[in-house]
Amino acid sequence: MTERMFDDAPISAGMRVLDIGCGPGTVSLMLSRRVGDHGHVFAVDRDPQVLQAARARARDAGFLNITFVEGGFDVVVPGHGTLDGAVGRRVLMYQPDAAQAITQLARAVRPGGLIAFHEHDTSSVNDDRTLLPLHDQVRGWLRDMLRKEEVNLHMGFDLHGAFSAAGLTVECVRAEANVLTPTAEYPVAAIIRAVLPRLLKHGIVTETEAQVDTLDERLLAERKRNNATCLWELVFCAWARKPAK
Ligand SMILES: C[S@@+](CC[C@H](N)C(=O)[O-])C[C@H]1O[C@@H](n2cnc3c(N)ncnc32)[C@H](O)[C@@H]1O
Repeated sequence: MTERMFDDAPISAGMRVLDIGCGPGTVSLMLSRRVGDHGHVFAVDRDPQVLQAARARARDAGFLNITFVEGGFDVVVPGHGTLDGAVGRRVLMYQPDAAQAITQLARAVRPGGLIAFHEHDTSSVNDDRTLLPLHDQVRGWLRDMLRKEEVNLHMGFDLHGAFSAAGLTVECVRAEANVLTPTAEYPVAAIIRAVLPRLLKHGIVTETEAQVDTLDERLLAERKRNNATCLWELVFCAWARKPAK
């Protein structure tokens, strides 16, 4: 879905773009392939450790057109104010004031430039058929964790409002769902493993309860047993433009 957003927004060869909250660099690498040798990616994250891992990943894979920068939405990069776009995935949800964060970020972009975000919403996925108690439980762990961290669980629904409040012209808001079926595994265990320290810290689950090593297998068995398809989360992509001067 991220790639489709970049196809349609569009992000293309030669563009200079900023990836805010780049984390392990997955989106930065997608952007790097797109913008090519004549473009450039500034991959920004406030967490120096995650940034170091992303930098090593890009270097080992031979990506030369990415500069990793430690910073936040107010980061200043070379060519500040003239970039063609700024994007982020699953990062606005962590900002206490998304409109203010977007306003800061938009300063890096030229008039007419693109601002695009991929965010999600787990709060409206509610399987009231209660066929799948393990699925409900695991989704509940993630929701409780995000609530405790005061993350905006509705960020997908709030994208249009946040863009507008930041003075941008919204071009598109779209959503689809990640769907789990009885025949295909979905990497829930990898997600839980990645956030396990946070789940443990908040006292939401113990390692023994989580049983991460067998989690995907048990989730798949539950779907198979009930011949059930379920929604995991809603995923939103939205993009907007900074007004031309
Ligand atoms: C859920 S991860 C998403 C990583 C990446 N965008 C992806 O989709 O794979 C969120 C990332 O945003 C970063 N982050 C959160 N708030 C930030 C802020 N205000 N400034 C910079 N980075 C931030 C975190 O450090 C983390 O690496």
